[in-house]
Amino acid sequence: MRYEVDFLVVGSGIAGLSFALKVAPYGKVCVLSKGEAREGSTRYAQGGIAAVMYDSDSFDKHIQDTLVAGDGICDREVVEMTIRQAPDRIRELVQYGVGFDRDLQGDRFDLHREGGHSEFRILHHKDNTGEEIERGLLEAARNHPNIEIKERQFAIDIITQHHLGQRVTKHTPGIECYGVYALDCDTNRIDTYLAKVTLLATGGMGNVYTTTTTPVISTGDGVAMVHRARGVLSDLEFMQFHPTSLYNPAEKPAFLITEAMRGAGAILKDRDGKEFMQKYDKRLSLAPRDIVARAIDNEMKTSGREYLYLDARPIGRQQLIEGFPTIYAKCLSVGIDITKDMIPIRPAAHYQCGGIKVDCNGLSSIRHLYAAGECSCTGLHGGNRLASNSLLEAVVYAHNAAMAAIEEVKVLGFNARVPDWNAEGMVLNEEMILITQTKRELQEIMWNYVGIVRSDLRLQRAFDRLNLIFRETEDLYNRSVLTEPLSELRNLIACSYLIIKMARARKENVGLHYSLDHLR
Ligand code: FAD
Ligand code: SIN
Repeated sequence: MRYEVDFLVVGSGIAGLSFALKVAPYGKVCVLSKGEAREGSTRYAQGGIAAVMYDSDSFDKHIQDTLVAGDGICDREVVEMTIRQAPDRIRELVQYGVGFDRDLQGDRFDLHREGGHSEFRILHHKDNTGEEIERGLLEAARNHPNIEIKERQFAIDIITQHHLGQRVTKHTPGIECYGVYALDCDTNRIDTYLAKVTLLATGGMGNVYTTTTTPVISTGDGVAMVHRARGVLSDLEFMQFHPTSLYNPAEKPAFLITEAMRGAGAILKDRDGKEFMQKYDKRLSLAPRDIVARAIDNEMKTSGREYLYLDARPIGRQQLIEGFPTIYAKCLSVGIDITKDMIPIRPAAHYQCGGIKVDCNGLSSIRHLYAAGECSCTGLHGGNRLASNSLLEAVVYAHNAAMAAIEEVKVLGFNARVPDWNAEGMVLNEEMILITQTKRELQEIMWNYVGIVRSDLRLQRAFDRLNLIFRETEDLYNRSVLTEPLSELRNLIACSYLIIKMARARKENVGLHYSLDHLR
């Protein structure tokens, strides 16, 4: 099938839906989602969204906290622009129907604090903020007559001059995007979506690693598509590991224990119940995430333990049950009463700071192709994202991209010369088990050699092993018809390759990139 839409949005998380709602009055919008529309990192977000809402805080302080967490390599202009826009974007979320908790009087937002923040400035909805945001935005988008949301449509590749038979390299000037090819997961048909403007909002790539807080859909599809289309990517060495995921080895994704708990008084402890963060940073359990994750990693490695503890008991029983109901219920379901027991935790891959390089309007290096949310790299996070700045970045850049796209769409048409996808190939069902095994192998390589602490030797090992997996998978791809698992595997391999390549190129320890072979 061939479709023509003014605005094509790949992804139905906070970034994709915010953009869709903004452009909808100006043309036909189609939102593709590879699974159920609600499934993505957005709905798992717990802590909340950072914004300066009252005079007790200041933009300067939020800017400073972001720059410090980013370890000196944030883009200052981007940081200032994003943080100054935050209150307006929060008010819009509220208008779309998103509910944030308020204080007892009901006239001010109840604000939390998280690691690296010098003030209480995290707007939240109990400990399930993301679920509330996703609910509100989806409801608003579903009610808009110009927005069509199509579930189980897996974008495979963005369409460029390459598909018109031209040779495209990363040096080709003026690469253009004409839309995407997408696999209909119910019919296995590959459809052609022609668009005047396309936004990638495909989320993160946590599944590159064995243990991740991100949902199974987070396989770096957008980044891999732009890589194949020869677009510019950046900062992929900065994979953020969240210090505290619940230690429950069989569970995927790993369940997050929000940093807001540490903001409320929970303390990291070793297996003997002793505090250890004083050895690493004067901000103790509330130091920025990279520092805390490395400290935990070091404590685990030196003690040979698979997990440490978060002691949430100082928060108090009532506040734990009322303020963190999701975590309380989850832990209880696996036999841990957080009002009485310490919570076993370990770090997990959580957030990709790098991604598709965009300008301040969310425009990528490819014409008519925008990116927003976790798949993009704006310069806001530098070497390490400050907690709760991700949802903020997503709404700010969805807004900026929408404003630019609304103007651009007026002068664009569809490219009728785009051919349909060549679906030749065999169905190699017996080989499909290899995909599952290879994915597991890949995740272990990345976890073991390209994790929180790296070295030249570990990166070389990862690269060599990845090479073999890459060749085997390309061979399978060339012989068989395309399926979602195969496409995801190729994307995970591409993302792993890019993470390793960028990690090898960075010869200093900055933010989340930490190598034993490079001092500062
Ligand atoms: P997502 O919400 O991940 O959505 C991605 C969308 O893209 C999905 O709809 C998916 O179906 C679609 N998609 C992907 N690939 C394809 C494809 N090939 N074809 C079609 N569709 C595709 N950040 C904060 O700021 N505050 C928090 O409190 C916070 N807590 C978090 C807690 C957890 C457990 C996790 C995992 C993350 C948390 N983050 C938090 C990070 C934040 O939630 C994410 O960065 C953000 O939600 C990403 O939004 P997004 O719209 O970019 O992508
Ligand atoms: C958390 O709630 O700890 C996650 C916040 C974030 O990832 O920004």
